[in-house]
Amino acid sequence: MTKVDLTVNIGKLKLRNPVMLASGTVGYGNEISEFADLSKLGAIVTKSLSLKPRKGNPPQRIVETPSGMLNAIGLANVGVEEFIKDKIPFLKQHDVPLICNIAASTVEEYVECTKILDSEEIIKAFEINVSCPNVKDGGLQFGNDLKAVAKVTEAVRTVTNKTIIIKLSPNVSYISEFAHVVKDSGGDAVSAINTLVGTSFNIFTRRPKIHNVNGGLSGPAIKPLALAKVLEISRKVEIPIIGIGGIMNWKDVIEFMIVGASAVQIGTLNFIDPTSSVKIVNELEEYCEKNNYKNISDLTASYII
Ligand SMILES: Cc1cc2nc3c(=O)[nH]c(=O)nc-3n(C[C@H](O)[C@H](O)[C@H](O)COP(=O)(O)O)c2cc1C
Repeated sequence: MTKVDLTVNIGKLKLRNPVMLASGTVGYGNEISEFADLSKLGAIVTKSLSLKPRKGNPPQRIVETPSGMLNAIGLANVGVEEFIKDKIPFLKQHDVPLICNIAASTVEEYVECTKILDSEEIIKAFEINVSCPNVKDGGLQFGNDLKAVAKVTEAVRTVTNKTIIIKLSPNVSYISEFAHVVKDSGGDAVSAINTLVGTSFNIFTRRPKIHNVNGGLSGPAIKPLALAKVLEISRKVEIPIIGIGGIMNWKDVIEFMIVGASAVQIGTLNFIDPTSSVKIVNELEEYCEKNNYKNISDLTASYII
């Protein structure tokens, strides 16, 4: 049988396969490296980085739900400087493209973070998080506002030539309008979706199970919604899409690619089985072989409606 070409392109970024690990679910790569051979993956995306370190929200920050989980971590992270000093040396030992996810409260902070990280050769792309539902400052304040998304994208574009991916929120009426703005403002790709706003209460104490009250819902419960958002973007805007939301196995990856994703990210599944992402890459290859796809990228937006 001929060898399957699993490579995919996202802007200037060429990945060995479409499987990436999603922001916030593998730390800075260190948390998963003893379970998964990082060199077998398409890319890893860091936990959201901010200019200064953030403690995040007080606990309780995570609660399990039927078919998923709610989290309100609140963007806890070491900050860009410590990331460069303490985390990048570890990542340099692994042959895997690194995508830095950035979160900020102002346009200037997004720009400053990107500028500081841009000179690090190991960083191949930036994923700009304008869609975190769990913080008071920033997050959805940007992701819900077309003009703010345009401003952030344009501003970040002025300080880097690397691939810029804007991570979109599903907590909007028409996600394709946001993808349109990203394209028009110089962004190279979008990732869809971040988590959905949700909550959960203890019926005996009548108190929220999460200290922040609201959290972001992830996991299999959100997959149909995420697929619909990816399909909406794919039908309306010509821009590479990274599909995210509830991927639990290789079949889910194929489904995301069919509705329009060029690549995918795996999130909540890393907590259930941290070895799954590498297995999924192998299973994707088998699927392509059996179904005569020479290039996995031929699956992207191959839907028949
Ligand atoms: C515990 C946890 C922490 C997360 N932290 C971040 C983050 O820092 N930045 C970000 O852009 N997304 C973050 N996310 C969202 C994921 O990257 C992903 O978009 C979302 O979980 C949907 O994918 P999934 O259903 O496969 O988990 C986080 C998700 C979880 C579960």
